[in-house]
Amino acid sequence: MMDHIIGEAFRFAVSKFPLNPVTSIHGPKHWLAVDTNVRVLIEGEGVEDADWVVCRLFAMLHDCARMSEGEDKDHGRRAAALIRTLPETITQAVTPYQLSVLTQAIAAHNEGGTTKNATIGVCWDADRLQLTRPGVELFPSPEFMSTKLGKILAVQDATNLRLYKRHGDEVFFRSTKTGRFSSRQANFREI
Ligand SMILES: [Fe+2]
Ligand SMILES: [Fe+2]
Repeated sequence: MMDHIIGEAFRFAVSKFPLNPVTSIHGPKHWLAVDTNVRVLIEGEGVEDADWVVCRLFAMLHDCARMSEGEDKDHGRRAAALIRTLPETITQAVTPYQLSVLTQAIAAHNEGGTTKNATIGVCWDADRLQLTRPGVELFPSPEFMSTKLGKILAVQDATNLRLYKRHGDEVFFRSTKTGRFSSRQANFREI
């Protein structure tokens, strides 16, 4: 019953997207894959508190303001600002609280944090599990997942782990000796 607003959000995001929607590694193909992850996380996790409408809107909208295929630290905040300009068909179909959670999830999605909020946790994990995609090829790590299932799926992904990973716009290096990750702002590289 709410599917029409997901399609509406998808069309809105495409209309605002500054990059090439066909070729972008952060574009519509990624949004749809995040949407699939949302369904898996909500169903697999049994996260009763997670609001699937908010999570699916997040999938469609979180990267719609990306201006670069590479580093773009403010793209979450810019996309969050666009929430105020969503068509009424969407804003009238959800509550002010849902819009507020959606805005928070989008604004901070690339800042690297985790959360105890079930809805925002599903949003962020669904996005981070998509780090391993053509053109990005970075690996999600369980310590940066908010949901239990997200952590399990990240471990499975990490079986292919190279010796680097990136989370949001931060870079993490893994020591081959200690297995620990350290972070610093830099271009990612293997160690
Ligand atoms: Fe993003
Ligand atoms: Fe994303």
